[in-house]
Formats: sequence, C-alpha cells, structure tokens
Amino acid sequence: MDSGKIKIAIAASAACIAAVAANAAIDVIPLPAKVAERGGVFSFRGDIARIAKFSKDASIPAEGYRISVTPSGVAVAASDAAGGFYAVQTLRQLETAGGDGVTAIPCVEIEDSPRFKWRGLHFDDCRHFFGKEALKRTLDFMALHKMNVLHWHLTDDQGWRIEIKKYPRLAEVGSVRRGSPKRARDIAKGEKKKNSRWVCDDVKYGPYFYTQEDVKEILAYAAARHIKVIPEIELPGHAVAAVAAYPWLGCTGKNPGVRWQWGISRDIFCAGNDKTIKFLEDVLDEVCALFPSDVIHIGGDEAPKHRWKHCPKCQKRIKELGLAGEEGLQGWMTRHFTEYLAKKGRRAVGWDEVLAGNPGKDTIVMSWRGSKGGIAAAKRGNDVVMTPNDFCYLDYGQGLKNDPHEYIGGKVTLEKAYSLEPTAGIPAESAKRILGLQGNNWSEYTWTPEELEYKMWPRASALAEVMWTPPERKNFADFRRRAAKMRKFMSDAFGANCAPVQ
Ligand code: ACM
Ligand code: ZN
Repeated sequence: MDSGKIKIAIAASAACIAAVAANAAIDVIPLPAKVAERGGVFSFRGDIARIAKFSKDASIPAEGYRISVTPSGVAVAASDAAGGFYAVQTLRQLETAGGDGVTAIPCVEIEDSPRFKWRGLHFDDCRHFFGKEALKRTLDFMALHKMNVLHWHLTDDQGWRIEIKKYPRLAEVGSVRRGSPKRARDIAKGEKKKNSRWVCDDVKYGPYFYTQEDVKEILAYAAARHIKVIPEIELPGHAVAAVAAYPWLGCTGKNPGVRWQWGISRDIFCAGNDKTIKFLEDVLDEVCALFPSDVIHIGGDEAPKHRWKHCPKCQKRIKELGLAGEEGLQGWMTRHFTEYLAKKGRRAVGWDEVLAGNPGKDTIVMSWRGSKGGIAAAKRGNDVVMTPNDFCYLDYGQGLKNDPHEYIGGKVTLEKAYSLEPTAGIPAESAKRILGLQGNNWSEYTWTPEELEYKMWPRASALAEVMWTPPERKNFADFRRRAAKMRKFMSDAFGANCAPVQ
C-alpha cells in the first residue's frame, strides 16, 4: 500500500460481494470528530487502501480526512498525505472479517481532523535499550492511533545511545555500564545497603547504541507513517555517560564511570568550559544533519548545581556575563543552544526546568512536573507540550489487579490518563500555545520490549484520544469498551502485549 499518497484508486467490483455484517460498530480510537452512521455495509475482498477511491480536497484541515462508505464503495478525501493515511487507519479499525476472505465496513460518513498537532510518545532507550524492532512496533502502533511525534531519548547518565562520528568514545565507552540495579524481586534479604535504593547486578550492560545507519532506517520507517522523530540530547544534566567517555566535559575532569544507578547525578556538563560548549555544538551538528525534524530536544531537567558552584570555570562565566548565579548559567546555556539551533532552522524544546533560566520565547517548553510549568510558559508566550507526570507518565503504576510488573512508583490509571484536559488552567488567549501532549515511557523499571508494551498500551490509547478527539466527544465508559476491542485487535494482528482493560 502506498498509503502516504493521495491517489485515485480503481473502484473495485467488491461491492457485488454479499454483505457479511449488518451492524458493525464505529469503534475507532481516537474517536473521530463527526460520525453519521448510514446502516448497511460495504463488503469487499482485498485491501481497503487500494479499493477505496481517494481524492484531494483543499478545504479539509491539515491531517484531516472525510470518508464516505456506501454499499457500493468507499470514497476518501483529504488535503494532504497525512489525512489520506489517517483515513486508512480509521478504515482498518472499521473492518470486520467475514468468511471466505470477505471483509465488511459499515456504511458511514466521517469528517475528522486532529485537535492538537503534537501527538507524541517518548521512548527512553538509555536506561534500558530496546532496539530497532521495538521502535518499529511502537511506530506501527502510534500510526494506528494517529500519533505523529516520537520523542527519542538518546542520551543520559546510564547510556549514550547514538553514534557521533566526531566523538567515537560516546558510543564505544558511553553505551556500556558495569551493571544495572536489580529488580526488587531479585534482591535477596539483607542485600540492600543502607542509604542505597539499588543493588547492582554486576552484569555488564552494553555496548548498546544506534549507528547513524540505524537512525536513518528508523527515520525512514517513521516518515512512511507520518511520524516526526525528535531526538533528545540532554544538557546540561543527565550527562554522565558522555563525561565518562570524555572526562574533560565535566567540571572536575575526573571520570565518574557510566552511571549504573538510577536517579540524578551531580556530574553534569561544565558550562564554563568553551571546549564543552564546542563539543555540544559538534554533537548537535551531526544530529541536525541526521534528523530532518524542525524541533530538537535539549533536555534541561534535573541538573544539580553542586559542581558548578565549585568550578572556577563555571564561576568565571557567571561573573563575566553577569548571570544570576547557577540558574542564570543554565539559562545562558539554554539560550546559547536555542540560538545555535535557530541558526540551523531548528527550534529547541526543553523540560520545564528551563523556565527558571528565563528562556527565549522561541523555546518550546515541555511540562512534566505537573501542568504548572506549561501553564506558566503558555502565559509568558512560549509554545508548550503537555506531559504532566500525574497523567502522562506511563512508567507509573496502572492500578491493575494482579499486575506482575514493577513500576517506578506513582499511579496513572487508564481513566486518569483519559481525563487529562491539556488546556485546563490556561486563559483562552494563551490556549493556542498548547501544541499538544505526549506520553512518556521512562525505562528504569522497564526491562524488556514486552514490558514496555504492557505499560504503554492501552494508556497511550487514552492519551491518543485526548490528543485527537474534540473534548465534548470524550466519554470514558465508551472509550473503555473501544479500548478492550483495540487491545484484542493489537493482540490478534500484531501479538501485542497490552495491559488488560479492567
Ligand atoms: C523527567 O521526567 N525527568 C523529565
Ligand atoms: Zn564547570
């Protein structure tokens, strides 16, 4: 199927095939904006993406589409390729298989377009590395849900996961750690040390990283599904793997070793060292050459200022530039890299901590410590992506009975995820600053792709509906019913390991 193109497909003779289901339901996630059921079905053999008749209609909003199903055929209209692609995703969910290779789609008129333009999922390959197949499955499931942004977390304390040709030690050294924290169930009685939340398993982890060829393969796979991939290169914090590869990047010059514990480290990039700044520019040069995304994530969260307080170079920079202490120094760094990326035609996005450093208005703020950072950012005129931890963190517990998995803590039930209103608390004149939202899959407590899938779905299905569907159309009881059906579909068609809908 060349689903990315709007094209005229040859009408099939399938209309002659006897109907196989008289009353198929319009059970689609995310729920379309407008649906009018007509009764009856269109029955066919083959692939609906060929069989449907596509046309272009410039009056349809970006990424939107119109579908008309009658007993004699399916007509799709869209103004862009993404709209045509999303129409096909809707049709796939409407299909009911009959006997003898016959498929039925209920007769319906659908007019649909997204509420938000940033419909994202975040993927942490640093704490645990999942690899290309898991990424591709995630991209498939995202496409099914009309999600269009993959935020790829590629660098952190516990692993540097992308090849940078100018600095080969990032991948060679930074992608390997001496071990990982044991799962709770594997910690023997009395094994845990006082003052430590973790016990090292002493099983070497890595080298695990993506070559630039791997990245290109993922980018092509995502592009075919109308998904933009946004890389995250964390600065100034979450930098231990890089500092272990090149100790001069840090304030002390000492090698901290790639971090095996979870949590936050004091060893961040030295903001006073011009060589460190140049290093980060070089990394961003290669990243920008590789990723076509107009947006690049530069982190900014959880950067303790202890090292900077005691570093002559960092203190000299603060004094020379008249900055407001260490927070001002982080603000300087955020502005520096926002401007650096702007010269390359890219926008920077940072976690909500960047607000403390008074970022430029062109920096996109990602609100994760609840929604308050996003509300403040929208009010001051920054664009915002909402990913409040109390609704969007898919590494938090799901509140399920008999859940075999370990979680980082917290609780985000399916209903809670579904209940997010991303513009709540934001004055109407600032609401347009909310570009959208995303679910975050931090992976400290997620060991395998199967666990990742279990934690992601169906809560990401709930977020997908928040991203797309007009809020007045949302209804949790109805969503829950459709989510159970989607779970079965994902399991039957892809062998997905989704959590149960309880
Ligand atoms: C974050 O969860 N540290 C952005
Ligand atoms: Zn320093």
